Amino acid sequence: MRKKLSIICMITCIAVLTCFLLAEQKSFANAPGSNKPIDISITFAGNTATEKSFAWITKSNEPAPAVVVVWETDSLPITFTGKSEILSGRRVNKVTATGLKPNTKYMYRCGDGNSANWSDTFTFVTGFDKEDGTTFSFLYMTDAQCATDQQFELWQKCAKHAYAAFPNAKFVAVTGDLTDRGSDEELWDKFFYYGRNLLSYVTVVPAIGNHETDMGPGYFEDHFFFSGNHAGLPDYVYSFDYGEAHFMVLSTEKKYSDFTSADQSVVDEAYQFLDSQLNWLRYEVTKSKKKWNIVLIHKAIYTNGKYVNSEATHFYRSKLAPVFDELSIDAVLQGHNHVFDRGFIYRGNPVFGLIPSQTAVNKEQGTLYLTNNTSGAKFYEIVKGFNNPLLLKSAQPHVQLYTGVTVSEPYIRFETYTVSDQGPDILYDTFTIYK
Ligand SMILES: [Fe+2]
Repeated sequence: MRKKLSIICMITCIAVLTCFLLAEQKSFANAPGSNKPIDISITFAGNTATEKSFAWITKSNEPAPAVVVVWETDSLPITFTGKSEILSGRRVNKVTATGLKPNTKYMYRCGDGNSANWSDTFTFVTGFDKEDGTTFSFLYMTDAQCATDQQFELWQKCAKHAYAAFPNAKFVAVTGDLTDRGSDEELWDKFFYYGRNLLSYVTVVPAIGNHETDMGPGYFEDHFFFSGNHAGLPDYVYSFDYGEAHFMVLSTEKKYSDFTSADQSVVDEAYQFLDSQLNWLRYEVTKSKKKWNIVLIHKAIYTNGKYVNSEATHFYRSKLAPVFDELSIDAVLQGHNHVFDRGFIYRGNPVFGLIPSQTAVNKEQGTLYLTNNTSGAKFYEIVKGFNNPLLLKSAQPHVQLYTGVTVSEPYIRFETYTVSDQGPDILYDTFTIYK
C-alpha cells in the first residue's frame, strides 16, 4: 500500500513539474497557432505628444486584424487598427494610435479584436507640449546581447533596476545588439519576456547593431514599428523630438569590407547608404528648432573597448566625427564595445580645460561620447596598448550599467549607475553639459 502511495505521489510530482515547465515555456513563447500577443513594443510615431506605435507577434499563421484599444481612466476606449502580415510562419502586427492627448497616461491592450485574444492591460504616457514644461528624463542602455536564460535574467535585472531608479523615464534608448542572434526568434521572445516590465510600459528607441544583421536579414524590423520620420532611408534610421531635444538614430551596420570590396557596386551602395544618412543628419539638425541634438549609433567611434583599433572604428570615426563636429551634436550614445567610455571631443581633441575629474562643461563646441558597457552578461576588457587619450574615463566595472539622462533647457545630465545585488545601485559616473 505504502509503495503504491509513493508511486502515485511520484507520478503527481512529475505531472506538476511538467505542467510548471510547460507553463514557464509558454510564458515567453506561446504555442504555435496561438493568437495571444507576445513581444509587445511601444515606439514613437511622427508626433511624440499625440501618437504612439505598437508592434507585437502572434504565433498564428492565420491572417487576422491588428487592433489596439487605448483609454484613459473613466473614459471610453478608442480602437485603432493597423496592419498584420504573416512572416516566417507567424503574424507580425503593427498599429499606430493617433489623436492622443499630450502628457497623458493611457491604458492599452492589443489583439485581433476577438475577446479571447487580448493581451494583458498595460499603460503608456504621451509626450508633452511646451506648456507642460521642458524637463524630462530617459534611459540609455545597450548591448544586452543575451543568448541563454541565465544571461536574460541579467538583462531583466538591469531593466528592472533602471526603471525603478527612473520611474518617470519617457523612453529607453537601446543602442544595438539587443539579443545575441537577431535571426533567432526565440531570443527575441526571451528579450521581450524578460524585459516585459519595462518594455510593455515605456517607449523604446532602438538602434540597429551587428547582432541584428550579422546572421543575414533578422527579425529586428518585425519587432518594432518605426513609423516616424525616415526621409526615404530604411525605417530603422529615424528621428523624433522630445522636449527641447532632437534625437537621430543612425545605422553603422554596413560592414567595413563593403566599403573596400572588389565589387564596385557593393562599394557604391555602402557609400550611398552612409552619405544619405549624413546628408539626412545635416538636414535634420538644420531644420530642428530644438536646443539639443542627440545621436544614437551602435559602433562606438571613440572607445577604449574591444574594437578600439578595428578598421570599422577608424573608418566610421573618419566619416562621422567631422559631421558631428560640423553640426555641434551635443551627445552621441554608442554601443558595441561592452565597456564604459566617456569623452568630450571636438575635432579630434579633448575640449580645452576638460580634465578627467571634471563632471560638467559649459559647451561652446564639442560632443559628449558615451559607451554604456552592457545591460546583459558579456563584458569586454579595456584594450591595453591602444589607450585613446581623448577619453576621460574608460573602464570595465564587471557589472551591468544603465544611464538616466535628464534633459532640460539649460542642461543635459547623464547619471550612470551600476546594478547592485546588495543595497541601492551605485552612481558610477555623472556628466552635465550646459549651454
Ligand atoms: Fe555589436
